[in-house]
Amino acid sequence: MISSTTPVIAIDGPAASGKGTVAKEASRVLDFHYLDSGALYRLVALKALREATPLHDEAAMAATASRLNAVFDNDAIVLDGSEVSAAIRAEAVSEAASRVAALPGVRSALLSRQRGFRRPPGLVAEGRDMGTVVFPDAVLKVFVTASPEERARRRYNQLIEKGNYITIDGLLRDIRERDARDSTRTAAPLKAAPGALILDTTNLTIDAATAFVVGKYRALAAAERH
Ligand code: DC
Repeated sequence: MISSTTPVIAIDGPAASGKGTVAKEASRVLDFHYLDSGALYRLVALKALREATPLHDEAAMAATASRLNAVFDNDAIVLDGSEVSAAIRAEAVSEAASRVAALPGVRSALLSRQRGFRRPPGLVAEGRDMGTVVFPDAVLKVFVTASPEERARRRYNQLIEKGNYITIDGLLRDIRERDARDSTRTAAPLKAAPGALILDTTNLTIDAATAFVVGKYRALAAAERH
């Protein structure tokens, strides 16, 4: 049912699949709220790195997650009063976030915070477990993928633009390792939710991928009205 509760569109998939851009664009077109759940794991990781909390200390990491003093204000992400939207994208934070995200205590500490983003008129939520764990009642679930080679190429272009020196081969190796870690962990492994539509963006533009999600949602909403 779309009308009885605030609708959620759950968009999951691996890193650099295009899910972030598609989710953000779809939220803009539909005028829905937007949740970047990966940013929450990144914030926990950044805070732990800054405070030198051992990443494997699950109780300490869960406490860090539940006390997180973070504000999302359009494109600005503020942690303990300072803007960190660039800092949470650093490679060291990506690496730490992937480890932190494997801890069940951290995942449950972030659950109600994520659900709090569900406000009228609707929410587009992106991550790894939006359709499986956080919003299992999402009206539309999309699992976004792209080939590892294409994802490495996209990440390479982003990093080169920011002035980093890296190789595609190194990125491809990192992407494969992170995929394996994210999809084989016991706590909320990365996988398509039952009923999720698979959207392969390897050969799609952002506009075409966004149109797919918005079109599916509008078709569901129209069917509900009739
Ligand atoms: O999407 P991202 O790269 O910003 O996510 C950062 C890390 O957090 C990544 O290792 C996957 C993990 N993550 C998760 O486990 N569950 C989510 N809902 C979102 C991200």
